[in-house]
Amino acid sequence: MFPPGSGREGAPETRAKPEIWTKRAEFDAANDALVKETAAFGEAARAGNADAMKTSWAKVAEACGGCHGGPTKSGGKFRFEE
Ligand code: HEC
Repeated sequence: MFPPGSGREGAPETRAKPEIWTKRAEFDAANDALVKETAAFGEAARAGNADAMKTSWAKVAEACGGCHGGPTKSGGKFRFEE
């Protein structure tokens, strides 16, 4: 996801911030966190464990905040505000 050259120089309409490429390690860490929490949510769903799904979903939403302003905001660190 987001290889070099896919920023505004290659896609002027993107809402992805240049920080994705200048702060790559931080971005990758936020992405890894989302992948991990989403996988855990999938596990809970497959196990049919509603309580675990609730706990896990909160963590997924929190992981969105790693790049966006927070679970309820769409802007944030790695994406332009509207
Ligand atoms: C690793 C960083 C990262 C994480 C984590 C992340 N996003 Fe994003 N998201 C982005 C970036 C960057 C864009 C802008 C992409 C573009 O415009 O090319 C985006 C775009 C979006 C958009 C499209 C909005 C728009 O108008 O451009 C939505 C909706 C969205 N994200 C929701 C979420 C949700 C919900 C989660 C959690 C499940 C999440 N994101 C987690 C980086 C992330």
